[in-house]
Amino acid sequence: MSEIPRAAEILRAGGLVAFPTETVYGLGADASSATAVARLYAAKGRPADHPVIIHFSSPEGAFEWGRDIPQAARKLAARFWPGPLTLILKRSAKAKDFVTGGQDSVGLRVPSHPVARELLREFDGGVAAPSANRFGNVSATTAAHVIGELNVDYVLDGGASEVGIESTIVDLSGGVPVLLRPGAISRLQLEEILGTKILDANSASPRHSGGLERHYAPRTPALLVPPHALDAEIAKHGDAVAVLAFSRPDERVEYWIRMPRTPQAYAQRLYAALRELDTADCSVILIETPPQAAEWDAIRDRLSRATG
Ligand code: TXA
Ligand code: MG
Repeated sequence: MSEIPRAAEILRAGGLVAFPTETVYGLGADASSATAVARLYAAKGRPADHPVIIHFSSPEGAFEWGRDIPQAARKLAARFWPGPLTLILKRSAKAKDFVTGGQDSVGLRVPSHPVARELLREFDGGVAAPSANRFGNVSATTAAHVIGELNVDYVLDGGASEVGIESTIVDLSGGVPVLLRPGAISRLQLEEILGTKILDANSASPRHSGGLERHYAPRTPALLVPPHALDAEIAKHGDAVAVLAFSRPDERVEYWIRMPRTPQAYAQRLYAALRELDTADCSVILIETPPQAAEWDAIRDRLSRATG
């Protein structure tokens, strides 16, 4: 049997399949099966009251899991699906408590990666898929990352994820749109389509694990350092330091990775770079602070979480 039908069969049997998406790798399970989703949470080590994103091959399929679908959702879906956008909508009866964390809302996404699309088409239902990493860790952007970290029934290898950071999440379940997680699709792009302002997530918004303080974090403590302070900080830590920077530090350092100067290329590289430096056995990872411009919002968000 070829890979996709085999993977779909494993999902139907209640198994766990890791698959590539354009953002990061997902750890998939049948979203309508309580036992499959329970296995998913156990494999990730994730608290049971956290909601997951459910993935579909088409917007029509996705919207069956929501109710009172607002016009805003249809507009965003028409423009950005398939793609790196997750919509939080009021849930329909299909979205049970075990995928919503008991909330009255549900997270829906139609990914664009060809392997994900094929799998979802073949499975013909909703696939619950959090990022394929242990809870709290940096997300996986290659099949090798997943295999090294999780116990799963099957891994589809679709190469390195192109976007590299998790989808933008917009909550449309209340009266006004709220940005729960910045991503490759920017606030500006969303506001342009909606013709309204999008609010920032605050403590009143629904529970989302991406909103936890320390998340997307390497095991080695990481620190954000402004460009002008980088050399002094390296000197302070001596040999036991790893560095993520835009150019070679003046101060001698054994482990360092040069990061790209555009936010798209930086995001694509980020998690693999953090994982690589995490294996260097250093006492600290120093990360050069990226520019303040809005196009770096999603990266600054992930870096501030990685650095606690
Ligand atoms: O790019 C992505 O979104 C990847 C790929 C695999 O699709 N998935 C991903 O899933 O990042 P995960 O579970 O690691 O993060 C999903 C985020 C979490 O912060 C979760 O709490 C939030 O979405 N979320 C899901 N359903 C929600 C809901 N009903 N209300 C609020 N937040 C929700
Ligand atoms: Mg995650």
